[in-house]
Amino acid sequence: MSDQAELTVDGKNYTLPIVTGTEGERAIDIARLRSETGLTALDPAFGNTASCESKITYIDGDKGILRYRGIPLEAFAEHPNFVEVAWLLIFGHLPNLTEYESFSKELTENANLDEDMKHHFAGFPRSAPPMAILSAMISTLSCFHPHLFELDGADQFEKAAARLISKIRTLAAYTYRRSRGLPYIYPDPKLPYVSNFLHMMFSEVYGPYLPEPEVRSALNLVLILHADHEQNCSTSTVRMVGSSQANLFASCAAGVSALWGPLHGGANVKVIEMLESIHRGKQTAREYIDAAKDKSSGVKLMGFGHRIYKNFDPRATMLREVSEKLFARLGVDDPLLEIARNLEEIALSDDYFLERKLYPNVDFYSGIILRAIGIPTNMFTVLFAIGRLPGWISHWHEQNSDPAMRISRPRQIYTGNPLSNYVPMEDRI
Ligand code: SDX
Repeated sequence: MSDQAELTVDGKNYTLPIVTGTEGERAIDIARLRSETGLTALDPAFGNTASCESKITYIDGDKGILRYRGIPLEAFAEHPNFVEVAWLLIFGHLPNLTEYESFSKELTENANLDEDMKHHFAGFPRSAPPMAILSAMISTLSCFHPHLFELDGADQFEKAAARLISKIRTLAAYTYRRSRGLPYIYPDPKLPYVSNFLHMMFSEVYGPYLPEPEVRSALNLVLILHADHEQNCSTSTVRMVGSSQANLFASCAAGVSALWGPLHGGANVKVIEMLESIHRGKQTAREYIDAAKDKSSGVKLMGFGHRIYKNFDPRATMLREVSEKLFARLGVDDPLLEIARNLEEIALSDDYFLERKLYPNVDFYSGIILRAIGIPTNMFTVLFAIGRLPGWISHWHEQNSDPAMRISRPRQIYTGNPLSNYVPMEDRI
């Protein structure tokens, strides 16, 4: 195969290099396109554009492959440990015991928030959307760690990463507790990452919440399955913001805002609302599917479809298995799971979805699991953010460690007014 692309513009021939990735994926390197041809490339929503080279995550959307630093996602299912995967994504290798224990200790020691941050929580209406609070409070967090605005070296970066990954749990739990008028539950240094989060969410002053081992394992795996996904909308946002040399906290706060959108991380909330609407008998599964096929309805089958996966999303497959095991263990009988399975069966036998290669994505089953654990629907996307944070941090670090990094500044094609005159107010119609 050639390592060059030939381009002819106005009768003049140009050659552009073709770069090839580890797994053989190829791209035309257009870094010199404008300087050589005077033309730019137009690709709204970047469906055909690679924004960077990255060593973090590999996805093959046709084969349903997802690997973190080369390790297949399925390898983490037997003994899911979110902290281990966070280290792998951020530092590029599986942690040895010393690295793992040191990082875990740093997460434990940094779970608390500055007491003054409670004033900020108190300033929000109790009905405030949790994602609005999370984005604001990650930025606010940086004000209490000004020494981590400028990360001077590996040690400083690890401190910032550990503080964010540890404290996002506390921010999430306090958001939940405040919305219900419950007292804040402080982190317990004896508890590992996920158990400590569940403790801060659900323990009471008069008694601790002790999750079943299956719940701890399921939530570790749910967070792992959300941990990174290459250049998705929110990660690309983190990279874009980080390219201006904005600090890690500000960049991740921007990622939270991008993730909030219902076409992205907000879909897990919309899936449950869709399933509940069918459960209430507002419409049947078939009626919902027919509406999703009708462009004029504005309805989409939430949790279905993906820009990259055109066969199946391996995360959806794993999450469906997790939901079935967890429900069996907890003796949960959630009618929404049956409705989800029914919707999936109808859609996957319908030409509309098959022709467009629309399959369940990560958001289709995740909400059902979070419901079974007792997480309220409006906190689902916050859980997605907790999972995705190590991915955001690893991409921010990969980009900002590159000496060749430049500020991201896309071009455009202007299609507005030609040169026009200013018309004084008195002469305007
Ligand atoms: C996430 O990028 C990532 O990696 C994201 C993510 C991650 O881990 O970061 O995987 C997480 O965001 C998962 C996606 C969650 N969103 C949803 O479940 C919302 C529902 N899905 C759709 O909005 C849509 O499928 C997207 C946003 C996921 C993908 O949109 P694309 O790639 O722009 O696809 P498209 O809109 O161009 O759709 C192609 C066709 C269109 O029909 P035609 O114009 O060809 O006739 O498929 C149709 C669309 O109308 N279509 C759907 C549909 N998704 C696409 N029709 C009905 N229901 C749907 N869900």
